[in-house]
Amino acid sequence: MSIQTKKLVIGLFGFGVVGEGLYRVLQQTPGLNAEVKRVCIKHADKPRNAPPELFTTDPETLFDDPEINLIIELIDDADAAFHLVTRALKKGIAVVSANKKLLAEHLDLLIELQQKYQAPLLYEAAACASIPVIRNLEEYYDNDLLQRICGIVNGSTNYILSKIFDEDIDFETALRQAQAEGFAESDPSTDVEGLDARNKLCILLTHAFGLRARPQDIPCLGIQQLKQADADYAREKGFAIKLVAQAQKQSDGQVATLVLPQFVAPENLLYNVKQEYNGVVIETNFADKQFFYGKGAGSFPTASAVLSDLSALRYRYRYEYKKLRHSVPTTLSEDYYLKVYVSFEQLYQVPREAFQEIYQWSSAADFCQVSGLLHISQLLEHDWWKNDSVSLILLPDGIIDARTVQTKKYQRKPELVF
Ligand code: HSE
Repeated sequence: MSIQTKKLVIGLFGFGVVGEGLYRVLQQTPGLNAEVKRVCIKHADKPRNAPPELFTTDPETLFDDPEINLIIELIDDADAAFHLVTRALKKGIAVVSANKKLLAEHLDLLIELQQKYQAPLLYEAAACASIPVIRNLEEYYDNDLLQRICGIVNGSTNYILSKIFDEDIDFETALRQAQAEGFAESDPSTDVEGLDARNKLCILLTHAFGLRARPQDIPCLGIQQLKQADADYAREKGFAIKLVAQAQKQSDGQVATLVLPQFVAPENLLYNVKQEYNGVVIETNFADKQFFYGKGAGSFPTASAVLSDLSALRYRYRYEYKKLRHSVPTTLSEDYYLKVYVSFEQLYQVPREAFQEIYQWSSAADFCQVSGLLHISQLLEHDWWKNDSVSLILLPDGIIDARTVQTKKYQRKPELVF
């Protein structure tokens, strides 16, 4: 019997926020003909809201059960997840995972294993939870037409920023609330420092542009260094501050890719993405902008994406990674400019010469602000912007193609050219 018609018998790893959510959601969708047979957990003594005979702490119980034909991995330890997922694929068992870190770091190998052992791995829940963005990027958008993806892909930081901006709640309280709601990672610094968003961006890049990038090669800042003065500056200009993950094709075909806090103007579709919601704006040559919006964290929204993978397995859906097979591989650009605002405490912390152009510079005894144009090499090769008392925020439409900058400079200052 094929997986299309036979019952999906699930071995589930993890019964946290998402695992339990999936268990509940499955109970409400009998039409899917899927049943959780065993759940492997780490801590046997935690009280669980499900029959005790479901649980085991021994992974072998799941792997040795001949009836289990689908492994769902929803644990938060990426290293342990790596062993479980590779083991299942090597046994030819279909896998669904929501582990962003695992996927961002090991997708090359996981693609290889899927092909070698003819076992599918689906992971719609790993980026933007309930928003079906991975399958859309994979199937709908032709690489040549796709110019840009730009999104709020971490629910916790968006929730925290909304609380700070809209409700005047302080950072620590907002973070505690995000944890209590089950939005944050078990180590919330992963959210706050932008690392979770960067992992998700790595996954999206694969399906959007056929670009495999290592997380550590993507410049990334979170929201931990943002200060009251930055929020005041944003308010004064009518902007919101959002943590934005983006990838923008440059005129040479390479892709400018980063995760940074950004000033977002009211006319930007991301402006009204608040609380734990995520939003992704996709720009193509011919269709212009399209906008995906939905809950990006939380038990049921994430479980709903896992559920959609189960249902996709029914019709033998697999990621084909079509764009990875392009004859000319897409690569990360190291030659573009950023329009940024930087605030900092001491003059020596930010080198003036880092800027290609300075739009505005103000300095007082213990507070300075500058806005200007930086070459991306400043972020790739220097560390001054990572200092906790330095706050770097991308200005609206802040990614500038290197060729545009040269053209403008020549027009503005012809005396420098001749
Ligand atoms: N911690 C993640 C977030 C959970 O806040 O977006 C969903 O991936």
